[in-house]
Amino acid sequence: MKASTKKLSQISPILVGLMGSGKSSIGRRLAAHLDLPLIDLDDYIVEKIGRSIPEIFEQDGEAAFRQMETDALSEVVGKPAVIATGGGAVLSETNRRILKEHPPVIWLKATPEFLATRIDGDSNRPLIAGGDTLSRLRELAGIRYPLYEACADFSLPRCDMKKSEALHEILRFLKKWRKQQKKRL
Ligand code: S3P
Repeated sequence: MKASTKKLSQISPILVGLMGSGKSSIGRRLAAHLDLPLIDLDDYIVEKIGRSIPEIFEQDGEAAFRQMETDALSEVVGKPAVIATGGGAVLSETNRRILKEHPPVIWLKATPEFLATRIDGDSNRPLIAGGDTLSRLRELAGIRYPLYEACADFSLPRCDMKKSEALHEILRFLKKWRKQQKKRL
């Protein structure tokens, strides 16, 4: 591992953003680059509960899923890892507090129009099932953009950007962020 990467791997970045913004895929690349594990919060919940996300939504309801999400986030924050949260993780005030206490939080900011082309018809995402994906995403963006904004230390505009470029920009931010943190100590 390069010395610069080794220093960055002492940071545990958390990715937030709407569904389809690339939290898991960019998270995987970032984790590999930093030589850290990726904890995908949805996968963590699925493994812990033993049911899929659509099953949890259908059988227990969204409120129960949100509680599972808060429990999961509390269990994993602070670990040496890249954490990819679910798109709705910022809805809970508790989660927002946890995120603020565990920087750096990176928002993969993408427009509903961009996201709709990526996730239309995805049956694993109950919040867009059976409706007009673009309108639903616009509605979610209206509610969530200010919440992502409030939690994030860095916003990365995701549209028109290849994953490799996104990774490059995130690494650039992390280097800057690390320097600022050191100055504060
Ligand atoms: C959700 C996003 C999903 C998953 C669940 C709810 C949301 O995660 O947590 O379906 O509220 O936006 P992804 O953002 O990884 O798709």
